[in-house]
Amino acid sequence: MIKILFVCLGNICRSPLAEAIFKVKIKKYGLESKISCDSAGTANYHIGESPDPRTIEVANNHGVPVHHFGQQFKKKHGQEFDYLIAMDYSNRSNMIRELGEETSSLFMMRDFDSDGKGEDVPDPWYGGMDGFEKVFQILDRSTDEFLQFVKEKHNL
Ligand code: 4NP
Repeated sequence: MIKILFVCLGNICRSPLAEAIFKVKIKKYGLESKISCDSAGTANYHIGESPDPRTIEVANNHGVPVHHFGQQFKKKHGQEFDYLIAMDYSNRSNMIRELGEETSSLFMMRDFDSDGKGEDVPDPWYGGMDGFEKVFQILDRSTDEFLQFVKEKHNL
């Protein structure tokens, strides 16, 4: 099983949305027995909480089901997951600090976005629904390309 972990700060907006969108794509390609994914946040603010209502709303607007409870990113995740996907550069630095080293399994989500390669997935927490819709579009594009990357890399 190829295991992927999407990581943001609070684990209630961006990373659970990335997880939810990616799960739909894994299913669409019949890859449920080959690829799994989860999400986490580098902060401890929202452990055990459901995603933000705006995350659930934007996902549902696009027919994407969301089921997740907040968890904090820990060093053990570095061993457990094959790919660690950070939403922004601040998340990335926090992850490296927690892991104690840089690792080749660590990527930025928008390394896989043809429209904004290497940029941050913006934090939508302080804004309105338009920000969540923008994040949805970014994640929809990035997860498409990321799934192609994983499929090619593992001959799936
Ligand atoms: P996320 O967004 O990292 O995409 O889940 C945030 C959620 C909560 C907070 C910050 C960002 N917060 O400060 O509580």
